[in-house]
Amino acid sequence: MTLAAISAAITLYAENPSDTFICIETEKSSMILEAREGEVIFHHYGSKVGDPAQFKGLNSYRRADYGTDPQAYPATGGRYFNEAALTIEHPGSQWNTELEYISHHSYGVSDGVTRTCVFLEDPMTAVKVQLIYDAYRDEDVIICHSEITNGGKKDIILRNFYSSSLPVKAGRYLLTHFHGSWAREMQMTSEVLTNGIKTIETRKGVRTTHTENPSFILSLDTDSWNENYGEVIAGALAWSGNYRLSFQIDETDRLNILSGINPHASAYTLGKGETFVTPEMIYTYTDEGAGQASRNLHDWARNHGCYDSSITCPTLLNSWEGAYFDFDTRTITDMIDDVKDMGLEMFVLDDGWFGTEYPRNNSRQGLGDWEPNTAKIPEGIGYLADYAHSRGVKFGIWIEPEMVSPKSRLAKEHPEWIVGSEGREKTTIRNQWLLDLSNPEVQDFVFGIFDSTMKLAPGIDYIKWDCNRHVESFGSTHLDEQSHFWIGYTQGFYNVLRRIREKYPEVIIQACASGGGRVEYGALKWFNEVWTSDNTEALSRVFIQYGTNMIYPASVTGSHVSAVPNHQTNNITPLKFRFDIACAGRLGMELQPKDMTEEERDLARQAITTYKEYRDLIFHGDLYRLSSPYGSDHYALMYVSKDKKRAVVFGYCIKYQARTLVPVFRLNGLDPDTRYSIKELNTEKPQFWGDGKTLEGRWLSNHGINPQLVKLYDSGIWYLEAEE
Ligand code: DGJ
Repeated sequence: MTLAAISAAITLYAENPSDTFICIETEKSSMILEAREGEVIFHHYGSKVGDPAQFKGLNSYRRADYGTDPQAYPATGGRYFNEAALTIEHPGSQWNTELEYISHHSYGVSDGVTRTCVFLEDPMTAVKVQLIYDAYRDEDVIICHSEITNGGKKDIILRNFYSSSLPVKAGRYLLTHFHGSWAREMQMTSEVLTNGIKTIETRKGVRTTHTENPSFILSLDTDSWNENYGEVIAGALAWSGNYRLSFQIDETDRLNILSGINPHASAYTLGKGETFVTPEMIYTYTDEGAGQASRNLHDWARNHGCYDSSITCPTLLNSWEGAYFDFDTRTITDMIDDVKDMGLEMFVLDDGWFGTEYPRNNSRQGLGDWEPNTAKIPEGIGYLADYAHSRGVKFGIWIEPEMVSPKSRLAKEHPEWIVGSEGREKTTIRNQWLLDLSNPEVQDFVFGIFDSTMKLAPGIDYIKWDCNRHVESFGSTHLDEQSHFWIGYTQGFYNVLRRIREKYPEVIIQACASGGGRVEYGALKWFNEVWTSDNTEALSRVFIQYGTNMIYPASVTGSHVSAVPNHQTNNITPLKFRFDIACAGRLGMELQPKDMTEEERDLARQAITTYKEYRDLIFHGDLYRLSSPYGSDHYALMYVSKDKKRAVVFGYCIKYQARTLVPVFRLNGLDPDTRYSIKELNTEKPQFWGDGKTLEGRWLSNHGINPQLVKLYDSGIWYLEAEE
């Protein structure tokens, strides 16, 4: 949009700043603020309430000496005593900030997206704050962030600088969030909040989402999870560094949600005239339960939030669990032949292809020295890529560019690039140190690794960007202010990704960080997909994928079929169960195909062929969760096309109880008046008596299907198509 067009589109409301409503609206939700007596008061986030003027004169019956009415962006100072969105230290002076309303305006950014900017200022300190709300009409999503400007003459120190503050008033707050650890990511837990503060955060940096994910689902006025009914606010922060989500129920029983960069050890000095831009906090509201909240987030992610969601990431074979570091040219070309034979579309060469002086034949050395290991692949990476391409197979390759092994040339040449605190021992995780991306020289180096890897062969189609450690003993030789490290690292990471995307807009890039260590919307602005978890075992994946797809769409979650006994858990599951789980996301395989029997290959070929026929539903359709794996014997979900003409249903038995327990899955999202043909895929022995029949949408939803999934790891996939 040109500047002239923007100003033409701007709607100015601020005629009378002391009595002004600020309405941020989507199709089914609204957020209403009011500029009142100099402050910006937060009135409402929820279903529509009609004319905002009805809020005029709203009396909260707050005692004047008992704090303030809920503010849109509360700052430490004045009468505000809860955890504040903004806390500013004026060195040698004061810590008070009292923001006053200046003006606001709204304008259309694109079809269906409206931006509202609210300007605030503390007249005494000249601190200016802009609150920015982007309303996505069709997805019912509102994104909030703030920009803080030091309009004064001296440096100020930001102590709290959250992206958003959201006050919510309900009788009960059921908070659902996602926690775990390596290989156990996105485990879901729900709790009714009580007075006080509940915090979800990371202080580890870089690999930020293993232990907690910066997202939540808040169900209002209930103490139990409901998939299809009830008021829900879901949120996710787009930031790849330390974050904090804080949920404080105050003495008025109001829940105040703050979300943004974690202020821990991150005091940020802002010089005269400088502006600090906080990351985006993505919210959705619905009164149709958690299922609709997920669908709203998925729609927003695919339409706006994730890097080029229009593409369908190809099915692939990754070399890691099939070969680890132990391969030569023949191993790889054989795997590429197997890719072709099974009908997969891409081969990805994982760790182990580089390092000459310190060859990367194990995880103890070589990171940082990114020249191909010609002892291992004498013909070069270009040969492998050509081999794949000549067989109609795409080619991808693994890098871990933010890292350096102590045993590497790079560590000797550039010790000053390694994260650490002067004079203290640099600790290793997985035998590696972290490069300091807050340093522009390191940013150049990391960009250069990506660039040179892309040049190893014409037409590299996919890069798996790994990251196998987090920060310890933080510190940078480059920074004057060490507390700027965490933010500087993340900004440096984004600088590199911005440059990469300018030069390589089309290459598919996966964010992997020991599996699910970078599953968040800040990374997904640049990456096409994430490696959901290093745990490829199908039963564990039930819970990991269930949790991850609460917030992030299946189109971005890589899910691979691996060998048994599983390398992470030792569990043994049938190949069909493994495929039926992996097919509910972006399908791949991660094993040595040579170890498969002919019968297993046949099943793989069949599963891959049918997956390609319905995967558009997984990538672009609506997710309906039919049965939760938590506390139940069966897990089931389905995806429905936007026009409701096609659907695919997945069902699994995940716990053996008794053969008498036959599940009933009531389908969802279908058109009640349409008759759907039902076909069970990838089996000679259908487990549902309705296979091959045509049944009405209303029957399928109101009665449901009862497939005979009675033994542990029984599973099925049913494809539904509307009768013409
Ligand atoms: C950790 C990743 O998550 C794995 O998939 C694999 O790429 C290894 N790193 C390679 O070192």
